[in-house]
Amino acid sequence: IGRTKIVDLFKREDFGAVVNVKGWVRTRRGSKQVNFIALNDGSTINNVQVVVDLANFDEEMLKLITTGACLSVNGVMVESVGSGQKVEIQAREIEVLGVCDNTYPLQKKGHSMEFLREIAHLRPRTNTFGAVFRIRHNMAIAIHKFFHDKGFFYFHTPLITASDCEGAGQMFQVTTMNLYDLKKNEAGSIIYDDDFFGKQASLTVSGQLEGELAATALGSIYTFGPTFRAENSNTPRHLAEFWMIEPEVAFNDILDNMDLAEEFIKYCVKWALDNCADDVKFLNDMFDKELIERLQGVLKDDFVRLSYTDGIKILEDAVAKGHKFEFPVYWGVDLASEHERYLVEEHFKRPVILTDYPKEIKAFYMKMNDDNKTVRAMDVLFPKIGEIIGGSERESDYNKLVARIEELHIPMKDMWWYLDTRKFGTCPHSGFGLGFERLLLFVTGMSNIRDVIPFPRTPRNAEF
Ligand code: 4AD
Ligand code: MG
Repeated sequence: IGRTKIVDLFKREDFGAVVNVKGWVRTRRGSKQVNFIALNDGSTINNVQVVVDLANFDEEMLKLITTGACLSVNGVMVESVGSGQKVEIQAREIEVLGVCDNTYPLQKKGHSMEFLREIAHLRPRTNTFGAVFRIRHNMAIAIHKFFHDKGFFYFHTPLITASDCEGAGQMFQVTTMNLYDLKKNEAGSIIYDDDFFGKQASLTVSGQLEGELAATALGSIYTFGPTFRAENSNTPRHLAEFWMIEPEVAFNDILDNMDLAEEFIKYCVKWALDNCADDVKFLNDMFDKELIERLQGVLKDDFVRLSYTDGIKILEDAVAKGHKFEFPVYWGVDLASEHERYLVEEHFKRPVILTDYPKEIKAFYMKMNDDNKTVRAMDVLFPKIGEIIGGSERESDYNKLVARIEELHIPMKDMWWYLDTRKFGTCPHSGFGLGFERLLLFVTGMSNIRDVIPFPRTPRNAEF
């Protein structure tokens, strides 16, 4: 008989049928006569209960059924009253596919998140990380479906680049080397090449600039891939390697851009509620009793749209009334997440799209407003997260863009191909970037970004 995934088993109603399931032992309990094994195969958060009449099985084999062991079970599917599921399995044959001794670190339940981060190679086997990574998959599917259904094209931008899109200088350099033929100096230290086949190259911080090339050719595109930032920030919201989704749309202005961002993020949140109900409920009950309520809340209301200048006024007001922030508030400041969260969580109690930031704190490519002080930027701010999306209408005027690049001393030789979009049939266009892991923080309710990506890369954590 072929294997039935546990998630599919729970949908069946042909009680009495003989089935095969394969999976890993989560727990084993019972009496001298009957044992109950909770088996999980990763297809769902829910375990199937395997009922084992001990008298029918070999004693030596039974000893091998320990937490973490991998089993193949043939048995009769019966209706269950006590197991929390509709279905359980009355075991007929059990094969131990893989034994697991007592050095297995996941013996007991209730490990700390910090401990589990140290065993990132095994943590997907826990209920929590199983739920998180199934949701991560589902969000990726939702994102592709959203854009595909809207007629956007998925465009692949390079990871090795020469330009610093965000202008923050936080890049990882890419060099060539031959691990087996390393050059060494007299002291025996390795001499690394300092370039990529004779050219300066880095890992991309954003696919946007190449995305703009695509938008001015294919109309509506999105990227979805890894990005890298060499920022030395150990916060619960920053990774050195994270995934970003960057739609870019010809002929969209900043208002269209805001509409798209709001529709997109609501679609993703609704998808999680509709398609990951068991996993979301598990995380809600386990860690964050307000998770489901928060997700539903975001779907209900229109996002607030507010200028940076008005946002600063609200924050200054709060300070005047005695609210204490760690960082100062004044016009021109790059908002800290405490400021963003104040606007969202305390003041408006809904997501906020903040627009028209001072040009000094935003990237070179954003469209200048008539005041010559602010740019057509938009950040989407979320409860618990702060900035979840950053975007803008782009400067489409060749001369203005060149002037800004010169003003910021960005090497023009790196930018000629980008400037061609403004030279040859330029058009208004807009886009934004959603941090995939920030979205996942929101929909899973996890509190540290290291816990929503399988293998987090941070200044202190890049072992495997
Ligand atoms: O605001 P950012 O830097 O914007 C861009 O990169 C633009 N090129 C996007 C665009 O307009 N196409 O980054 C966009 C989003 C942030 O809002 C945040 O959600 C996420 O990417 N992000 C990070 N996520 C995790 N770790 C980091 N170090 C992040 N830096 C940014
Ligand atoms: Mg930003």
